[in-house]
Amino acid sequence: MLSDKEKPVRQLIGLMDALHCGAALVDRAGRIRHANPRLCTMIGLPLGDLAGKDFYDLYPSPQDRAYIDQRLQHFDETYEGEFYLPRTDGDRVPIIVSGRPLDCGGATASLRLLTIMDITRQKQAEERATEQYQTIATLSDTILEQALDLKHDKEHLEQRVRERTAELHEANMEAIYMLAVASEAKDGDTGAHVRRIQHYAQALAREMGLAAPDAEQMGYSAILHDVGKMSVPDHILKKPGPLTDDERREMERHTVVGESILSLKPFFAQARDIARGHHENWDGSGYPDGRAGHAIPLAARIVHVADVYDALTHPRVYKPAWSVERAAGEIAAGGGTSFDPEVVRAFDALIGSARLLPDSR
Ligand SMILES: [Fe+2]
Repeated sequence: MLSDKEKPVRQLIGLMDALHCGAALVDRAGRIRHANPRLCTMIGLPLGDLAGKDFYDLYPSPQDRAYIDQRLQHFDETYEGEFYLPRTDGDRVPIIVSGRPLDCGGATASLRLLTIMDITRQKQAEERATEQYQTIATLSDTILEQALDLKHDKEHLEQRVRERTAELHEANMEAIYMLAVASEAKDGDTGAHVRRIQHYAQALAREMGLAAPDAEQMGYSAILHDVGKMSVPDHILKKPGPLTDDERREMERHTVVGESILSLKPFFAQARDIARGHHENWDGSGYPDGRAGHAIPLAARIVHVADVYDALTHPRVYKPAWSVERAAGEIAAGGGTSFDPEVVRAFDALIGSARLLPDSR
């Protein structure tokens, strides 16, 4: 305990005991000279058991004792750091300990005042924050992984949709070809005619400035231009000689029949225009409606040229195949009467660059 010569120390003890944090007086040897009530409560020992006790006795671990040694070696320096208090029940109380040399002269010169803050709540809050951070980090990783999985699934599904769409488009086109070939079969054609018409129509459309997808669509639509011939009796369709007026009217009906056969779906809108209008003439002398000029759909004006060119360059029951030059001359002569002059100009350009030969398919 303290001697009478240590009155300044007594005054200091009075102040320490009034503090709301732990406080201790320690001498240079590391012996506890006084512990205030708050510190006694924190450790779980009465003052009688703490006063005179060496700090070493509270900390059995060599590592902790080395730390205490280090602090004692710097006894005269101000210090603040985290440490812990060992409780008698085995718990460890996390603390912030501040050490200050006493400069009051006399007996206090060999003592050091330690103030000790219990930071258990702060540590618990810190641990909870760390746990929450780890939980959030784990969740973020999981969400990121799921997002990547979803992105991968989405790309896979989009690829499948593209493949299925391409398959359906191909199947659709095959169905159109089959229908076209079936309609042309009565003419003895095996499908070569419709594929040439497709090629000519697409090439003419491109030459006239249509975008590639639109020209391709026009080529597909042209395939079905004569689908209405299925309704024309064989004795008329295959008649080698001139047709009577009734037979001619029956033959001409293949245009309106073709239009009525084709679906009302938007995909077939152009095919219907072509089926009905591909025998209309620019000057209004054609059939079935006698339309003229731009009243005839562009696709029908294009297929009209393509159809006549193909008919001229291939044999029919009533004529042999014409040469390309002769057929081209016939088409050129029909510009402004039978054919749209703009389509004829595109046709001439294609013929001139050998891009519309009958065997180019
Ligand atoms: Fe026709």
